[in-house]
Amino acid sequence: MNNFEYQNPVRIVFGKGQIAKIKDYIPSNAKVLITCGGGSIKQNGVYEQVITALSGFDYKEFWGIEPNPRYETLMKAVEVVRNENITFILAVGGGSVVDGTKFIANAALAPKGQEWNILKGKYIPLTAVPLATVLTLPATGSEMNAGAVISRNETVEKLAFHSPFSYPKFSVLDPETTFSLSARQRANGVVDAFVHVTEQYLTFPQNAPIQDRFAEGILLTLIENGKKYCTENEYDTAANIMWASTLALNGLISVGLVTDWATHVIGHELTVLQGLDHGQTLAVVLPSLLKVQKEQKAEKLLRFAKNVWHICEGTDSEKINLAITKTEEFFRELGIKTKLTEYEIPQTISHEISERLKVRGWKLLGDRKDITPEKVEEILNFCF
Ligand code: NZQ
Ligand code: ZN
Repeated sequence: MNNFEYQNPVRIVFGKGQIAKIKDYIPSNAKVLITCGGGSIKQNGVYEQVITALSGFDYKEFWGIEPNPRYETLMKAVEVVRNENITFILAVGGGSVVDGTKFIANAALAPKGQEWNILKGKYIPLTAVPLATVLTLPATGSEMNAGAVISRNETVEKLAFHSPFSYPKFSVLDPETTFSLSARQRANGVVDAFVHVTEQYLTFPQNAPIQDRFAEGILLTLIENGKKYCTENEYDTAANIMWASTLALNGLISVGLVTDWATHVIGHELTVLQGLDHGQTLAVVLPSLLKVQKEQKAEKLLRFAKNVWHICEGTDSEKINLAITKTEEFFRELGIKTKLTEYEIPQTISHEISERLKVRGWKLLGDRKDITPEKVEEILNFCF
């Protein structure tokens, strides 16, 4: 295990009726900007709960943060924060609203003209407007991490940034907010959380049994609850999925470890070029990546086969193949497609993405830094 420091400052306020508590954790003299998506929170009663809790506060609203939040939209909110002297931002929605808000909070206090450089890694934020979240879609873990992923139309890019100032002050996780989610968004969320775990767990043995067992616990919870969560509104099922999704990407399961993240890098390219949902891209890429990397990942794949899929029979190679098949079947049972052909994506995409990574200088991906652009093309060819 490598040396590490771990500090996660996010207060989690979990459970039914907990949105009312936001008033206890936002400074009473704050000038608040509430950031929102396209309107789902108006239909499911979340907006009303937030507004009731904020009665007496000085607040404004910013609507229209879209899925895969766009720099162009977020810069409008940056202007609002600057012009209205906003001192606290409350994100109410899914990962896109939360990520968009992290960008707004950092960009608003950056020098003018440096905003996109935050995503390019050319400007490191020195401070940000404090933010908090009311999460309505379990998936990204953004509610308890310091990452955000932002897209830009003009440059056809989807890039991530991390800043210590992006940690929410608090996040409210009320499982009942998920009851209005479509089956598609539920499946996307379960797959996203599942793949967050595999990016950190399916690498090579690093003698880290605590991290491995936490990871397996999250995967088993997602498998045991995933299908029911996608088809029914049952409180405990939603609660377990919500907490599993948060724990999947709050940094705890990867302390001291080398991680992978190649599935996500390839997935982001599919979203920006072809418009697939984030979860859809991961369901397509992960099984193919595991097939191509099965020798390099053999030891962890065998552990995954035994501890997660309870596969005990057959040769090592048969066990690994079956674990990959069961993973893909699990995704399909949730109702998500796992082949690019099913999304009518042209086969030329494999070469296009490989070339884009070369141009950007992203030549070696994966936990062993052995996924070259040529291998990315091979992985994508397996997705058809
Ligand atoms: O915009 P509204 O009207 O709110 O509708 C949203 C949106 O259309 C809807 N929705 C959200 N909560 C709902 C609901 N509909 C009904 N009832 C509810 N309770 O769902 C749609 C999708 O929302 P979105 O926020 O885009 O989904 P998700 O949470 O999956 O976020 C995806 C984004 O997060 C990024 C992805 O790349 C993508 O841009 N990620 C962020 C990460 C992070 N910050 O750590 C890590 C992830 O790997 C991921 O990359
Ligand atoms: Zn993800």
